[in-house]
Amino acid sequence: MKKSRITGVGHYLPPNIVTNEDLSQMMDTSHDWIVERTGIEERRWFRPGVDTVTNMAAKASRVAIERAGIHAKEIDFIVFATITPDYFVPGNGVLVQRELGLQLVGALDVRNACSGFIYALSVADQFVKTGMYKCVLVIGAEIQSSALDKRTEGRSSAVIFADGAGAAIVQAVEPNSPGILSTHLHADGDYAEELYVKDPGSSREERLSAQLIESGSFHMKMNGSAVFKHAVEKFQEVIHEALEHNGKSPGEIDLLVPHQANLRISKFIQQTLALPDDKVFNNIMYYGNTTAATIPMALSEAWEQGKLHPGDLVCLAAFGSGFSWASALLNW
Ligand SMILES: CC(C)(COP(=O)(O)OP(=O)(O)OC[C@H]1O[C@@H](n2cnc3c(N)ncnc32)[C@H](O)[C@@H]1OP(=O)(O)O)[C@@H](O)C(=O)NCCC(=O)NCCS
Repeated sequence: MKKSRITGVGHYLPPNIVTNEDLSQMMDTSHDWIVERTGIEERRWFRPGVDTVTNMAAKASRVAIERAGIHAKEIDFIVFATITPDYFVPGNGVLVQRELGLQLVGALDVRNACSGFIYALSVADQFVKTGMYKCVLVIGAEIQSSALDKRTEGRSSAVIFADGAGAAIVQAVEPNSPGILSTHLHADGDYAEELYVKDPGSSREERLSAQLIESGSFHMKMNGSAVFKHAVEKFQEVIHEALEHNGKSPGEIDLLVPHQANLRISKFIQQTLALPDDKVFNNIMYYGNTTAATIPMALSEAWEQGKLHPGDLVCLAAFGSGFSWASALLNW
């Protein structure tokens, strides 16, 4: 049986920086409130008519392909994690496939929100391990800013979510090489409505109507304190699950890359695992929460900053809408 390994990572951020000061011109909020509650100082919002989820993902993918030292034509499958696809149908996998000129490889979309990248990585890992594919492109990319309610009514989520794209190349390697050790996926649908975008849903007479738009039901809705409480609990559980499964302890982690949900959540997890600052990677301060894109974006930045060395024990963990949560333990 083969093992799978991340051999290249890349990311792309739209250049349009939106500061907390900019947000306070749109809604009743302040730089200090946002920094204190979330750690976010600025984020990127896409440029309508220029950036799309597809073209941002393609840019991130090209960087990952180059860093993996492969030719794009070696990719034999695509897994695309996003909850903000360019079209309602088809999904974003086929769109990035077209953009990268990879016709006729299979393309799968994953809709597990903030856990989406780890779910997608797990799918790639299973396909590679069983020998079905040798080189999988795994993407997390989002444009969240167009779904935010930018009035005071929507401020608790409008200050958090943002746009960006990240990608990873997952390749088959020999079983004794460094690579993905295990992935752990969980969900609890009892909490589906605690963090969700209700419309345009299909179970109504008309998917879109003036009344529905007026009701604002297409905006992201979040019960912030319920999300916070469950996130701190499940992040810890799923990280310990990954470590125990592989006979490792928290002290052996070289780099923890948590989903960038909220800096307070990351700091809390860091504290409970007793990890020093240099063993936890955070960049939410500059980019906000880009849902499925945070982990590949963070991996790409960590790699650029020389924080990932061959063989390092790296733990990825995420929590989000669903609720769903997941972890992956790997040797870089
Ligand atoms: C959203 C979150 C930052 C709100 O922080 P909080 O300390 O729980 O704040 P509350 O929701 O209790 O609101 C406290 C007050 O701040 C106000 N408030 C909410 N958002 C605000 C904003 N952006 N600016 C200023 N005030 C705000 C509330 O209206 C409330 O006012 P009130 O006391 O007069 O009613 C926090 O709940 C959180 O971080 N949750 C997790 C979110 C997350 O990680 N999401 C991503 C999941 S993948």
